[in-house]
Amino acid sequence: MAERHRTLHDGETIHAATADAIEDAAKHLQAGELVAFPTETVYGLGADATNDEAVAAIFAAKNRPTFNPLIVHFPDHASARAAVEFSPLADELAQCFWPGALTLVLKRRADCPISLLCSAGLDTLAVRVPDHPVASALLKACGRPLAAPSANKSEEISPTTAEHVAQSLGANAPFILNGGPCGVGLESTVVDLSGDVPALLRPGGLAVEVIEPLTGPLARPENDPNAPKSPGQMTRHYAPTVALRLNAERANPGEALLAFGPDAPRRGCLNLSRKGDLTEAAGNLFAMLRILDQPGMGGIAVMPIPNKGLGIAINDRLNRAATPTQ
Ligand code: TXA
Ligand code: MG
Repeated sequence: MAERHRTLHDGETIHAATADAIEDAAKHLQAGELVAFPTETVYGLGADATNDEAVAAIFAAKNRPTFNPLIVHFPDHASARAAVEFSPLADELAQCFWPGALTLVLKRRADCPISLLCSAGLDTLAVRVPDHPVASALLKACGRPLAAPSANKSEEISPTTAEHVAQSLGANAPFILNGGPCGVGLESTVVDLSGDVPALLRPGGLAVEVIEPLTGPLARPENDPNAPKSPGQMTRHYAPTVALRLNAERANPGEALLAFGPDAPRRGCLNLSRKGDLTEAAGNLFAMLRILDQPGMGGIAVMPIPNKGLGIAINDRLNRAATPTQ
């Protein structure tokens, strides 16, 4: 642990993407740390997508006040199939455009090994196979799918060089692999194939004109009220079916307790983080809500979560879940 931190913080943050540096970066990822890496579109801020706490650390580093779902990167189509359900159309798009600047939103498989935090509680997952030699080598070396949003602070523009990453993330800049400027320079095009009609969620590096011959006209939220909303104003976010009571000190009879911190009861509840760590709590949030959301349960009482750092995103999510809009 101490050794790892010494290499991380005492040396340069930006590393030329040599074979050795890629191996080193893979070890950081396997240890649950963040690594920024180049893709053909923009630089991504990567974490082991199967590690809840590592994924939560992405939101902390980006300073995101909400949990938006993240794109998960795979080395190839076959490995993506272990995480999500591919329809025949999804397979066709993957065969035509992967590796490349196309992200597909598909239903999670029942045995999907990816952190629920990557889906922000939805039953879908955004997947992509990047077309960049450094990204491919890193995915293979680390042997885990990588969750990676663009490697910038929330609300800033996406970085297309290693220097942009360092400038934007500042002290939160992790190990940065430098693979030179990104070729495409625009984020991937996001197509949602999880619903009844294929929908364009985000125009991007792969032109819609080359996708639509295969999919037919894509529904767009701005001209089709039935098209899936882009996350952010998402109404499709997972909300528990039972009532949520926030800032509770204890559970009432019939309620389950979602606890936080060392002062909570030791038994009969789930604790987001007994040591009061907000990153650990964020990593556990969606999985624990799902466990407690049982038919017949008289509600979920949630203990207060400090409203700072990742606690702001946790409280945003809990508040929205407590006041269902539909
Ligand atoms: O080019 C890219 O896509 C870059 C590189 C690093 O791969 N990544 C990127 O990630 O731009 P990010 O997190 O900045 O953007 C992810 C987009 C967001 O618009 C998000 O709302 C959407 O994908 N998204 C992710 N998962 C989703 C899901 N399950 N359902 C709907 N939209 C999803
Ligand atoms: Mg972004």
